[in-house]
Amino acid sequence: MRFLVLGSINIDMTFRVDHIVRGGETLSSDGLSVNAGGKGANQAAALGKAGMEVYFAGKMGTDGAWILDMLRSFGVDTSLSISSDDIHTGQALIQVDKAGQNCILLNAGGNKEFTRSDIDKILGHFSKGDTIILQNEINEVAYAMERASAAGLAVILNPSPFDLAISALPLHLADTLFVNEVESASLAGVSVPADDEGFRTVMDILGNMYPDTRIILTAGKNGAYCLEKNRKVSFAPIVDYPVVDTTGAGDTFCGYFLAAEAAGKDAEEALCIASKAAGIAVSRSGAMQAMPWAGEVSGE
Ligand code: RIB
Repeated sequence: MRFLVLGSINIDMTFRVDHIVRGGETLSSDGLSVNAGGKGANQAAALGKAGMEVYFAGKMGTDGAWILDMLRSFGVDTSLSISSDDIHTGQALIQVDKAGQNCILLNAGGNKEFTRSDIDKILGHFSKGDTIILQNEINEVAYAMERASAAGLAVILNPSPFDLAISALPLHLADTLFVNEVESASLAGVSVPADDEGFRTVMDILGNMYPDTRIILTAGKNGAYCLEKNRKVSFAPIVDYPVVDTTGAGDTFCGYFLAAEAAGKDAEEALCIASKAAGIAVSRSGAMQAMPWAGEVSGE
């Protein structure tokens, strides 16, 4: 099975700060690093490091060539990415506070320059049995979902970052939705739950709304859940590591869950593997370079 990640690629400018800057405040940072990121590129990196056959199709300026080099070093095929002198690579201004929590400001750059013709050409390389993974950092997500679904690809959607445009997407076409606490509650139209019962209720609501879609809910410290189409619920607790930087944790989880499943693991095992991979990732700085390789996760 081949994975196609059609998604964003960003130059992450990561400022270490005492606290996330407040309105009207000027704050000196404790350090700045420039990292490779973007939810799409990160998820491709996670799949590559997990040993999967994965293609990353992004759109960027030539200033992002070093990120494609890094993706290739993780085993990702980047030959379907589109690079041009006329656009600049997406940028993310990231603050990471002393507890490792982050906030992110995006400038889309090439991520929002996809044309329908670009998407048709990329999808032309894939067919039934392949899987497409999409997030919400590029334009034309609905078109990509519709075309990919019509071509017989399994559609995986991580509707992040979450905004009002998500409700206009053809979510029923998604085979699998990866959502966090806030995204799942927003989609379900309820407030963010605080406990296990609340998360199971949210999944139940989403299961009724999208009966043909599997829901994977990452609930931060509260663990992760999978609601399958037959309504079976699986759960895995978080795997606790010291938190250095949470950037890309969700992307690591997504890539490793899909890789584990492709390797024949059931949902509960896949949740456990993905939780461990995400735990290792948050114990290091950065996004894709912080992600573990398969051997670090399996302990082999
Ligand atoms: O999910 C983390 C990513 O979100 C960062 O790498 C940043 O680029 C933003 O896209």
